[in-house]
Amino acid sequence: MEIVTFDVLKNPEIIEEIGVKSFNNFYSKEKILERLSTQHYWANIARENGINLGFQISYIANNSETYFWLLGVIPESRKKGIASRLIDLQCSSSEEHGHKEITLKTHLGHPEAIRLYEKKGFKHFHTEKDYWGVGKDALYFKKFLPQ
Ligand SMILES: CC(C)(COP(=O)(O)OP(=O)(O)OC[C@H]1O[C@@H](n2cnc3c(N)ncnc32)[C@H](O)[C@@H]1OP(=O)(O)O)[C@@H](O)C(=O)NCCC(=O)NCCS
Repeated sequence: MEIVTFDVLKNPEIIEEIGVKSFNNFYSKEKILERLSTQHYWANIARENGINLGFQISYIANNSETYFWLLGVIPESRKKGIASRLIDLQCSSSEEHGHKEITLKTHLGHPEAIRLYEKKGFKHFHTEKDYWGVGKDALYFKKFLPQ
């Protein structure tokens, strides 16, 4: 398995394809472009034998902070450490960029992601009620990077 950097603005349909396989509901490629076209972002794809297995996209939130926006691994390739590698890579990139922290939002509908983030050193620091609709609170997590 290899992890490669990826130009989302050139090929948003590839992210849409992996995202649709990884999430119950996923953004259209138009929405992905809309979000990223004004951001300085990092995107990585995990691949094996030409098959896309997972991806992550993050972007610069401000001078000291990375926002970890999207992470997904296709169901048949889960529990093999792919998401962990994608997170580790982003932490290194953010650290090299001089950022002090990485933040993200998730919700209780993604318990496996919550366990993963906690295992990777992210801490829950804020809850925004009904952020994604009634009963779907946003849980904010943060990880401080070594300085
Ligand atoms: C969450 C997700 C990205 C994890 O990807 P993955 O490649 O399977 O994760 P890893 O193999 O690196 O798992 C690392 C750790 O995460 C946790 N974890 C991952 N899957 C889990 C599961 N099904 N149940 C419980 N814990 C889980 C465990 O702590 C695991 O460590 P362990 O293997 O030592 O137990 C993947 O399940 C996914 O794409 N889910 C749907 C989309 C999603 O939830 N994205 C994140 C939204 S915020």
